[in-house]
Amino acid sequence: MRRSRGLGETARKSMTVVGAAYSPFLFRDGRKDSLWAQALGPLENPDEHGLDRAQIVWLVGQHYREPYEAVFGPLPDSRLTEAGLVDDGEAVTGVFVKVGKAIAAYERQLSPGPSRFDRYVEALLSDDEDGAAVLTPDELAGLELFVGEAGCTNCHNGPLFTNHDFHNTGVSALPGLP
Ligand code: HEC
Repeated sequence: MRRSRGLGETARKSMTVVGAAYSPFLFRDGRKDSLWAQALGPLENPDEHGLDRAQIVWLVGQHYREPYEAVFGPLPDSRLTEAGLVDDGEAVTGVFVKVGKAIAAYERQLSPGPSRFDRYVEALLSDDEDGAAVLTPDELAGLELFVGEAGCTNCHNGPLFTNHDFHNTGVSALPGLP
C-alpha cells in the first residue's frame, strides 16, 4: 500500500478532501468530527508538516497578515518573534484554530465534479440512449455487480458512494494502528 509522504511517511494512505465537507467524521478512523479540527492535525504531525503552533503563528504573521486580519481581526503579536508568541499559549492556540477554520472554508469548496457515472445516470433518467453509452460494456457489467449480487451498495451508496458509517471490511489493522 502506498502511503502519503510529508517530512516522513504517514501511517495510512491519505483520504481525498474532495467532498470532505459532507463527512460527519474525518480520517479513516473517524478521529475528528469537524473539518477545521481535521485540518490542524497534519500541521503538527511530525511526519507531515512538522510545525508547532508558535511557528504557525509566526508564518501567518510573515506571509498572511493582511488576509488573516481582514477576516479575523488583528493578530495578537505584541511579542511575536521567530520563536512565536512564546509566553501566550492561549493567543497562539486562538490563531492556530483560525488557521484550521480558514483551511476548512477552502476545503468546503472542493466538491466532486460531475463524473461519467453521473452523466450515465442523467442519460438514463432522460431516456438519452447516446448519453447512456458513456459507460463501456465492462463498466456496465461492473455496475450491475456493484448494485446487485456483490452488495457493494450496502455501504457504498448516496451521492459520495458512502453511507459514512464504520464497517469491518475484514482487512486487518496494521500493527500499532487502531
Ligand atoms: C460492509 C460495508 C462495505 C461493503 C459491502 C463494501 N465496502 Fe468498499 N469500503 C468500505 C469501507 C468502510 C471502506 C473504507 C475502508 C477504510 O477506510 O479503511 C471501503 C473502501 C472501498 C474502496 C476505496 C475507496 C477509497 O476512496 O479509498 C473501494 C474502491 C471500495 N471500497 C469498493 C468496494 C466494492 C467494489 C464493493 C463491492 C464488491 C465494496 N467496496 C463493498 C465498506 C464496504
